Amino acid sequence: MNLADLVVADCSQLLTCQGLIPKRKDALQDVGLIEKGWIASNKGRIVFVGDEKSLKKEVQPQDNCQIIDGKGLTGLPGFVDPHTHLPFAGSREEEFLLRLQGYSYQQLAQKGMGIQTTVKATRQASAEQLQSLCLSRLDRMLLYGTTTTEAKSGYGLNLEDELKQLKVLAHLHDAHPVDIIPTFMGAHEVPEEYKNKKDEYIELLIDKIIPEIRKEGLAEFFDVFCEEGVFSLEDTRRLVKAAKNAGFKIKVHADEFSSLGGTELAVEEGAVSAEHLINITERGIQKLAQSQTAAVLLPAVSFFLMLEKRAPARKLIEEGAVVALATDFNPGSSMTESMLFVLQLAVFTLRMGTEEAINACTANAAFALDRHESVGSLEKGKKMDLILCDAPNYPSIVYHLGINPIKHVIKNGKIVVKDGQRI
Ligand code: NIG
Ligand code: FE
Repeated sequence: MNLADLVVADCSQLLTCQGLIPKRKDALQDVGLIEKGWIASNKGRIVFVGDEKSLKKEVQPQDNCQIIDGKGLTGLPGFVDPHTHLPFAGSREEEFLLRLQGYSYQQLAQKGMGIQTTVKATRQASAEQLQSLCLSRLDRMLLYGTTTTEAKSGYGLNLEDELKQLKVLAHLHDAHPVDIIPTFMGAHEVPEEYKNKKDEYIELLIDKIIPEIRKEGLAEFFDVFCEEGVFSLEDTRRLVKAAKNAGFKIKVHADEFSSLGGTELAVEEGAVSAEHLINITERGIQKLAQSQTAAVLLPAVSFFLMLEKRAPARKLIEEGAVVALATDFNPGSSMTESMLFVLQLAVFTLRMGTEEAINACTANAAFALDRHESVGSLEKGKKMDLILCDAPNYPSIVYHLGINPIKHVIKNGKIVVKDGQRI
C-alpha cells in the first residue's frame, strides 16, 4: 500500500503522456489516455495513476489526505516551457505598431530597436524591479498551465547585468512554485558598446563572462543567437565550444530568419536542443532526425511577427525528429507566457495533431530541458505537476479557442491555482 496525501478522483479523462521519452513519429500520438482516471501523490511525488478499482487496492489515503473531485475535468501533466526570455524589463508596443505598418523585425533591429531596446531597459532596472516583473509573469504562466520553465538571460550583455538577471532567476526558483531552469545567453546580441567590435565581445564572453557565470553556478545551459547580422556560424562554434569546456549544456537559436547551418552545428556539438527552425534546410532536418537533439518549435513567433513561413513541423515529425514546443516568451517576437496558446497554435498553424502537440508541450518539452526523469509525464515517482481543465475531453482544450479552460493547477503536490485563481 502506498500512502497518499492528495488524491484526484474520477477525472473525465486523464492523459499521462507516459511511454518511451523522447517520443518520435507515431509514438507522439499516444497521450496515455485513461478514461475515468484517478491519480494520487505523497509529499509531492506521484504514487499512483490508474482507475478507481486499482487505487482502492494500492493506495492508503492518510488521515489528512486532500481529495479533489475530477468529475467533468480533463487532467494532463503540467506544461513544460523549454524556451523563454523571462527576465526582461520594459516593453515594445512601439515596435509592434511599426511592424503593423509593414516594417520587419530585422529592419527594426537594424535601426537599433529590437533586442537593444530591451537591453537598455533591463540594464536600468534594479534586481527588485526585475524580480517583481517576473513574479507576475510566473503567476500568469501557472494560470495557463506551465509548471516548469526554462529562462534565459541575454538582456544584460555584460557581466554585471547578466549576473543580475541570473540571480533574480535563482531567487524566483526558490520563491515561486514554477521550477525555473536557467540559461546563460550573453550571446543573444552584440552590445551597443561593442558595435563594430564583435570579436572583442566574443573574446570577453569566452575569456571572462562564460567562466565567471559557470563558477557562480547560476546557469545550466548556454544559448547563442546564430543569425545573419548577429553571431555567424563560426562565431557560434567558438562560443559553443568554450561553453561546453566550461561545463554548460547547449541550446542554439538556429535557422530563425536565415539558414546559416545552426541546426547542423547544434547536432554536431551534441546540443540538447536547436530552437526556432523556421528556415531549417533539408540537411538540417535529416541531421536532427538522426540525433538526440530536440527540435524546439516556437509557433507564436511566426504568428506574432506575421511571417508566412513556419517551422516544418510535419516534415520534422515524419522524419523522426524529437519535436517539442515552447513560447519563446519575450517582448519582441513573442509576447505570451501561455503554453496553452502555443498548444493551440501548433495545431492550427503547424498542423500538428492534438496528441502530438500535447506530447510536445509535456514529455518532449521536458526532454528538451533534460528534465524528463522528473516532469513532463504522469508516472509513479515523478513530480505531481498536474493541470485540471474544465473540458469533457482533451481535444476540447484545443478546439475551444480564446478561453482558458484551466481550472486547477497542482505543483509538487500542492494546489497553486484553484477555480482559475492563483492561490
Ligand atoms: O527568440 N531570436 C532572438 N531572440 C528572441 C527575440 C528577442 C527580442 O526580440 O527581444 C527570439 O525570437
Ligand atoms: Fe528565443
